[in-house]
Amino acid sequence: MNKVVIMGAGRVGETTAQILAEQEICREVVLIDIREDAPQGVALDILQTSPFFNFDTLVRGSNDAVDLSDADLVVITAGIPRKPGMSRSDVLDTNVAIIDGIVDDILRFAPNAMILVVSNPVDVLTWRVWQRTGWPRKRVFGQAGVLDASRMAAFIAMETGFSARDITTLVLGGHGDSMVPVPRFCTINGVPISHFVSEQRIQDIIQRTREGGAEILALRKNSSAYDAPGASVAAMVDAISHNRKRLLPCVAILQGEYGQTDIAMGVPCVLNEEGLAEVVQLELNQEEVSSFQRSAAAVKQDIDRLRA
Ligand code: 2OP
Repeated sequence: MNKVVIMGAGRVGETTAQILAEQEICREVVLIDIREDAPQGVALDILQTSPFFNFDTLVRGSNDAVDLSDADLVVITAGIPRKPGMSRSDVLDTNVAIIDGIVDDILRFAPNAMILVVSNPVDVLTWRVWQRTGWPRKRVFGQAGVLDASRMAAFIAMETGFSARDITTLVLGGHGDSMVPVPRFCTINGVPISHFVSEQRIQDIIQRTREGGAEILALRKNSSAYDAPGASVAAMVDAISHNRKRLLPCVAILQGEYGQTDIAMGVPCVLNEEGLAEVVQLELNQEEVSSFQRSAAAVKQDIDRLRA
């Protein structure tokens, strides 16, 4: 992949840019932000790590949407983060206005790009971007499940002492309090986690995963998470850039899968050079289906607010 543009040079944008550059996931990373000088400063700071990490990725900052031109992929991180005590939905009205402006710039300067939405509430905003662009869903998708699954994996590693490398987890649904961690699909190198972790502790881990973002926000106080979110976005970009055909939980527009249409939420997807090539439909049990539907209802409520 040649050029990735990150809209928003805040902490998530910066961390993503650093990883993309350091791992040479693309040839050029451009950070665009409305704050004067800020993206240029971030880009310069990242470039100055190149002697340590041995990369020659081009990294630039800009305040001008014209720099979206020729982007293969645009990552949208712009928007206001929530403050302690706020839900992701509380920032919807402010962020939708910001994201609409960005989409108009993308339509003008990068009409052939893919768009990866990160700003919150991510499910609703992914739906909004899909609607506003009118593009096929393979080119418009969001990041949430990779992060939520990484949190769950970290908690299982902390609980069991096993290496996080061997832990596979799956989190579906909306990126909110009703998200759906699915322990049935969580393993330690193929061995179900129930072999090592009691049912009660699994329930505790599920709850902690659901509140994973809020836990970090409460601890950091003046910032949401950005290390794991940046790494999660970079993992998705890497899968696309290297045509890896990875199976990752992504925020996807559903077109009948899981009994849902006209909604965006977290489901297992195939990521390759085309973007979101496929939504994988799993056989969920009754309890998982109910949880997924509850989560869909929460996302729909926010989408309906935008339709009103
Ligand atoms: C998180 O879960 C901010 O939604 C982001 O940390």
